[in-house]
Amino acid sequence: MCGIIAYIGTRDATPILIEGLKRLEYRGYDSAGLAVISDGQVRVERAVGRVHVLEEMIQQDGGLPGTLGMAHTRWATHGAVNQANAHPHMDDVEKGHGIAVVHNGIIENHSVLKKYLKDKGHVFQSETDTEVLAHLIGELYKDDLELAVQNALKKVHGAYAIAVMCRKEPDTMVIARKGSPLMIGIGNDEYIVASDQSAIVAHTNQALTLEDYTVARLTRDSFRTTTVDNVPITPEIQELECDLGQIELGDFEHYMLKEIHEQPEAIRRSMQGRIDTATGNVVLGGISDHANELINARKIVMIGQGTALHAAMISEYLCEELTRIPCEVEFASEFRYRNPIVEEGTVVIAISQSGETADTLAALHEAKQRGAHSVGLVNVVGSTIARETDSGIYLRVGPEIGVASTKAFIGQVLVSTMLMTYIGRRRFLSTEHVDRLLGQLDRIPSQIEMVLQLSDHIKDAVARYINRDNWLFLGRGVNYPVALEGALKLKEISYIHAEGMPAAEMKHGPIALIDEGMPVVFIATRNSQYEKVLSNIEEVRSRGGHVIAVATEGDTEIASLCKEVFYVPDTMEHLQPLLTVVPLQLLAYHATVMRGHDVDKPRNLAKSVTVE
Ligand code: F6R
Repeated sequence: MCGIIAYIGTRDATPILIEGLKRLEYRGYDSAGLAVISDGQVRVERAVGRVHVLEEMIQQDGGLPGTLGMAHTRWATHGAVNQANAHPHMDDVEKGHGIAVVHNGIIENHSVLKKYLKDKGHVFQSETDTEVLAHLIGELYKDDLELAVQNALKKVHGAYAIAVMCRKEPDTMVIARKGSPLMIGIGNDEYIVASDQSAIVAHTNQALTLEDYTVARLTRDSFRTTTVDNVPITPEIQELECDLGQIELGDFEHYMLKEIHEQPEAIRRSMQGRIDTATGNVVLGGISDHANELINARKIVMIGQGTALHAAMISEYLCEELTRIPCEVEFASEFRYRNPIVEEGTVVIAISQSGETADTLAALHEAKQRGAHSVGLVNVVGSTIARETDSGIYLRVGPEIGVASTKAFIGQVLVSTMLMTYIGRRRFLSTEHVDRLLGQLDRIPSQIEMVLQLSDHIKDAVARYINRDNWLFLGRGVNYPVALEGALKLKEISYIHAEGMPAAEMKHGPIALIDEGMPVVFIATRNSQYEKVLSNIEEVRSRGGHVIAVATEGDTEIASLCKEVFYVPDTMEHLQPLLTVVPLQLLAYHATVMRGHDVDKPRNLAKSVTVE
């Protein structure tokens, strides 16, 4: 995905755009660009690399004055990472109207459109689908930018959030969305358009989220919203809940570290008002209107990608244990392209931090079309998945800026736990069981605080293995998805190769990888599978592997088998992932810092993947 920021008002646009780009940089960071209208000209600067490179380039060139402008930080989908492919893109150099476009999404029929435009004499400067859109708008432009955008969008297939301006209309900006997020921040005689609220909250807390298929025309003191067929839409203005403190680093060196440390507070916030330990009740307003569909579900299908999928895998254990409803977990991307069986009584639960992941969204559409009742467990308020599901529960863990998901994972597991307890209590779970579970859940935030104190110990342990290029992560039962998550965290930010798998699976092949000194991380807490995990540890040790264990406090037996042990407090088996994942997050963090990589912006990645 990419980040869009645009400004129309009375202030100098460039500093606002640069600041906005820095806040949106986590959405994509291979190149960036900015355009303003000044003195009847559209002036564009584009740079490969991070936003600071663009900022320096603009300063060296004497600045870009103007009160209408737009900027973009890119995560490449079409065309290589180079200056020519960076946004903004312009319409035709020779016969164009000075139209500039920034775009997030994919224009799927760009090849056909490009051929049509080439036949009409258009000459292209880049390999991008966005430039095709800029030329198309230019081709249709007849002194009315809004109309040209509306008409162009009627010919486009795919997903887009766009901002468009034209040299000939220096007091107008046109924006539109379908399938990619876009918001308008409403200030005094100014509007700030952005992909998300992080670039808006510094200026105003009044905003509106554009619905799909909406086009908005902004001038300095007014705006109107319509469909592509020019039918007026009445927008709903909302107050943003996020404040600057939530999206600033504060005393932390990296967002990932900040977000790992925010986990206890995030859990407390997420549970607030939802759990009543006195009465043993779980209160979930977002699903209460659809409680019957959930309680009487014949099958629950959980979908997600990456970290969210790992949370879904943990939910499967919770679902079977607490509700006794058959549960399946599926990569959203695979669910979509199979011929999934969705019978009467199927509930599909989509898990997503961003609420914009294209694979998850597409699978959700497929499930809904086949008649499933849909539930969203989503962090970003007002995101597409949150809006398109029949019911849902927000994670309420606050904005997650680090590309590697940490507190959202904890939030996903927590919210699943509350959901499954809610359903289970209405089916067969005894009050005693629920009381015990909620009592233990209540202790999790302070227990995570204890685990966070292991940070220096984990750092020392990582230092001993920092030159090893292959790691294994093993766990059983509910800690098997935690092993997958530990491996994903390590590989995605430190670039160390890591594999996660069920501990028992190791002996069916991967055991061949184990050589002298290979680090093998076991999640080996005391639970129903503990003895079996000990046997797997022995298998690794006897082949020279070095075992690093996440174990239950007070377990001295395991220490003699391992090179390192990270102890976590004891809790119920099904709540253990909320604790056992934390040392693995810290392990990945420290390994990445030691290897000198960018923790918050790992190469090739972006915070949410809005392409299939
Ligand atoms: C890994 C990570 C990704 C996301 C995945 C789904 O740290 O962040 O694997 O979990 O791309 O994203 P969401 O949760 O936004 O749907």
